[in-house]
Amino acid sequence: MPLPVHSTVREDIDSLQQPTLDPPTPEAWQELRALGHRMLDDIFDDLATLREQPAWRPMPEASATALSLPLPIQGRPAEEVYRTLMKHLVPYTIGNRHPRAWGWVRGTGTPLAMLADMLASGLNAHVAGGRQAPVVIEETCLRWLAELMGMPSQSSGLLTTGATMANLISLAIARNAKAGYDIRQQGLQHCAHPQLLVYGSTETHSWALKAVELLGLGRDGYRRIPVTELHQPDLDRLELQIEEDREAGHRPAVVIANCGTVNTGAIDNLPAIAALCRKHDLWFHVDGAFGALLRLTKEYAGLVRGIEEADSLAFDLHKWVYLPFEIGCVLVRDSQLHTAAFATQASYLEEAEGGIMAGGLPFADRGVELTRGFRALKLWMSLQVHGIDTYAHLIAQNMAQAAHLESLIEASPRLELLAPRPTNVVCFRYTRPGLDDVALDALNRRLVIELQESGRYIVSSTVLDGRYALRVAITNHRSQMSDFTALAEDCVRFGDQLTS
Ligand SMILES: Cc1ncc(COP(=O)(O)O)c(C=O)c1O
Repeated sequence: MPLPVHSTVREDIDSLQQPTLDPPTPEAWQELRALGHRMLDDIFDDLATLREQPAWRPMPEASATALSLPLPIQGRPAEEVYRTLMKHLVPYTIGNRHPRAWGWVRGTGTPLAMLADMLASGLNAHVAGGRQAPVVIEETCLRWLAELMGMPSQSSGLLTTGATMANLISLAIARNAKAGYDIRQQGLQHCAHPQLLVYGSTETHSWALKAVELLGLGRDGYRRIPVTELHQPDLDRLELQIEEDREAGHRPAVVIANCGTVNTGAIDNLPAIAALCRKHDLWFHVDGAFGALLRLTKEYAGLVRGIEEADSLAFDLHKWVYLPFEIGCVLVRDSQLHTAAFATQASYLEEAEGGIMAGGLPFADRGVELTRGFRALKLWMSLQVHGIDTYAHLIAQNMAQAAHLESLIEASPRLELLAPRPTNVVCFRYTRPGLDDVALDALNRRLVIELQESGRYIVSSTVLDGRYALRVAITNHRSQMSDFTALAEDCVRFGDQLTS
């Protein structure tokens, strides 16, 4: 029988003012609730009218000033603060929600997932583990994602802030698994051990540089293999390099394969890299930040064949699953190696036989962070409501849009493709006879700015074989075919104006 609770303090202590951050009276709750409803109405109005708004607009100095306030020692009414935000914040974000936003590789978000995030924030669950429903939801999401990617059902995984973190976690597991000694105990300071090497291609995303630096492998421990004209690593060069490195007494450890390069959307020959890794006993890691999601489609799953053989696979859900930031995923074939890289013990975090801590903190044991939010909810709810078929359709739709843009570029004497288009990334430039590469670089650099500042399109840029390219990466569920027809026409129109 529970013991009665005896107050050791005087009963009248509650009559003293003890402020909290909750509204202090029923009326104040009512006021905050009304503000909440208004905020929801405002953001729905904003989302429902995105197409009528500019894709991007520069922030006026007055708005920057209005937000750069002195440290607020005294508070002020929420209503008043919200008015400032509506005026000076809401119109001036980076524009990635817009139907004509295709810069870098940024997702758009969805109204439904926004609601899920609101619910998750209201619950404010701490999702390191413990006996609670959010853990079941995240484990369920990971099981679904492993199934979608063709990874074994006993694979381990973690939802992360994004692909950078998912890739970093993967590389840490790979490094430890292939080091040949207890790297967690000894670290990397023992010169007696051979140098551990990581292989990527010259097209591998810059996260890999951060990762090799942070993991103590250093840039010298990272071999970037040159690519062919398809922007895939030259696999003969890769194998030769591995063999030479081994002969030189080093320890080749990991190959990073690209499933959708950031520059051009190229997909490496995954089955061949998988086979190479097995042959040379290397860890096969796949960075599938957006490309991995092609596996959801019937039409394009063949492009990513081999992904299911990965020892570890990183991908984003805030790109080609269109969820609001931040959410990515890492899947790891060998669950023991996964936890072996991160699990720690501390008396204050001990697993218990019962109560909240029964089952321990599985998610804290699979990554860097202890405190983690409930990002799984927006994924779980979105997949439940929309269904995988809808996502497969939207991804295929983005691929068809990329093909449409490519055909418009090929048909135009004023536009030129600068790279093959295997997936959803189209790289091209405005061109006209008589202009050399230097002049075209300057012109196209200006064109990107003109397109952005017109408020009509968000495209970004890259440099391919020394030539400046406009870059359109389509991970947008709001885009329509006609948006790309308009883009091709406006590129020619703006380009003509810039050269006239
Ligand atoms: C191929 C690739 N890998 C990794 C990343 C990094 O992902 P995130 O920005 O989610 O950390 C990106 C981002 O665009 C990417 O395109």
